[in-house]
Amino acid sequence: MMRWILAGVMMVLAAGTAEAADGKALFAAKGCTACHGAEGRKALAATPHLAGQNAVYLTRQMNEIAEGLRAAPALKPMKPFIDKTAAEERKAMADWLAAQPPADSGTGDAAKIARGEELFDEQGCIGCHGANGAKPLSDYPVLAGQRKDYLAAQIKAIRDEVRSTRRARLMVANVRTLKDAQVDDVAEFLSQSKRK
Ligand code: HEC
Ligand code: HEC
Repeated sequence: MMRWILAGVMMVLAAGTAEAADGKALFAAKGCTACHGAEGRKALAATPHLAGQNAVYLTRQMNEIAEGLRAAPALKPMKPFIDKTAAEERKAMADWLAAQPPADSGTGDAAKIARGEELFDEQGCIGCHGANGAKPLSDYPVLAGQRKDYLAAQIKAIRDEVRSTRRARLMVANVRTLKDAQVDDVAEFLSQSKRK
């Protein structure tokens, strides 16, 4: 009798582990695709593409959003969804998302891109996010090819200390002096830069 119960428990545990490891299935089952797209590549307006993003960064964001450390009005609709995930499920989703090919970010305005590129250089963004925002320091976010509306919203949120996690505060000094129009130029540039 005891043996059968134990075997049953073992099967349930094994099924749980297999499910947690399947980031793709979890991403769909947890409702994430509704806003971020089936493979994290077709995000709604003001919503980040997640495909191809750094796995450690993604995991940290999911955890900080779940814990309420990263909070913003724009995150309110997502909060109930992330609240229904366990830490190991978040990691499985992040690992899977990081391995997906990044989104195609469309086209941009040449004059804004040129101004944005100059600002990215002048403001010292390269030091942490790499040339063209494509080669960040380990566990920092890739910016190249991200949606421009999302990028602009984040730069403003970090500048205005709305998104004020320990790591986001590392870059406040670099963005503090940027006017909204300059933020939009930088976002335009980054959204159009290619990942290598
Ligand atoms: C109702 C729409 C919606 C749903 C559903 C949703 N998200 Fe989000 N998500 C957003 C928005 C909007 C943002 C950006 C908010 C902001 O401006 O900070 C975001 C941000 C994120 C980020 C931060 C990305 C970055 O580059 O910093 C991650 C990671 C994320 N979501 C994962 C998930 C996961 C995993 C799920 C499913 C459990 C999910 N989201 C469900 C709308 C949604
Ligand atoms: C000292 C290092 C550092 C510098 C310099 C820096 N950043 Fe960041 N940036 C970070 C870190 C770390 C994060 C992620 C914060 C977190 O984990 O919440 C980040 C996040 C971001 C994000 C949000 C990405 C996302 O997916 O949500 C954007 C956009 C961004 N940085 C743009 C810039 C721009 C533009 C500059 C230059 C004006 C800049 N950063 C300079 C370290 C830096």
